[in-house]
Amino acid sequence: MAIGVFDSGLGGLTVYDACAKRLPDMAFCYYGDNAHAPYGVRDADDIFNLTCAGVERLWEEGCDLVILACNTASAAALKRMQETWIPEGKRVLGVFVPMIEALTERKWGDNSPPREVAVKHVALFATPATVASRAFQRELAFRAIGVDVEAQPCGGVVDAIETGDEILAEALVKSHVEALKRRMPKPEAAILGCTHYPLMQKTFQDALGPSVDVYSQANLVAESLADYLERRPEFRGTGTDSKFLTTGDPASVSSHATQFLRYAIRFEAA
Ligand code: DGL
Repeated sequence: MAIGVFDSGLGGLTVYDACAKRLPDMAFCYYGDNAHAPYGVRDADDIFNLTCAGVERLWEEGCDLVILACNTASAAALKRMQETWIPEGKRVLGVFVPMIEALTERKWGDNSPPREVAVKHVALFATPATVASRAFQRELAFRAIGVDVEAQPCGGVVDAIETGDEILAEALVKSHVEALKRRMPKPEAAILGCTHYPLMQKTFQDALGPSVDVYSQANLVAESLADYLERRPEFRGTGTDSKFLTTGDPASVSSHATQFLRYAIRFEAA
């Protein structure tokens, strides 16, 4: 048994990598739905069905706890999965809550009523499906009041990163930041709400300026997972080796993954 990490493709490897570094004795099973990526341009039903199929595959591998490393799946499918689909004894956790807890300076499991927080103007950069779901604003409203969120759908950035076109990715990030700043000239914090964006963190930071706190999720999720496993050790699992599954072509996904993480990763067919 291992901890499952689900993503639409390669981006979730940023979350896997941070989790594996934070919890080096833990075994992980990663599932990349590369055959159907990107999710960011799909509709909510489609994202729900694909995410459920991937999570079921991870359950077959014995992963009773699955992290949805994909923001788009966390935003568009997780609430519906938790309300209608996840059986007793299994857990599926998303990647928004750790970010929102960091932003609102809350500790894990603090369920007190929403309150005023220091930050008032927040920029959210995410895929079109994540922005359309408004899941970030919904989760934030449970914890904080008086925070103005301006969301920018960052069309094209995931594709540019997946195809390794850094020049295009940089140009797109700059133009999305400019578009956001026309609507919110002085954000205090920016959330990088997509697994791929940590790879462009410097470009986001440079375009936003040094006064903006840029929140990137991989380390926040890893910290939250470590916390969760302290409290729920039954989900730690007994596996020793990590495994990487893909619905895409294992050879080409492995070679992209190795480029992405800068160490060798070998994917098998899901
Ligand atoms: N993994 C997705 C996310 O974090 C980005 C890639 C996609 O659109 O599938 O939103």
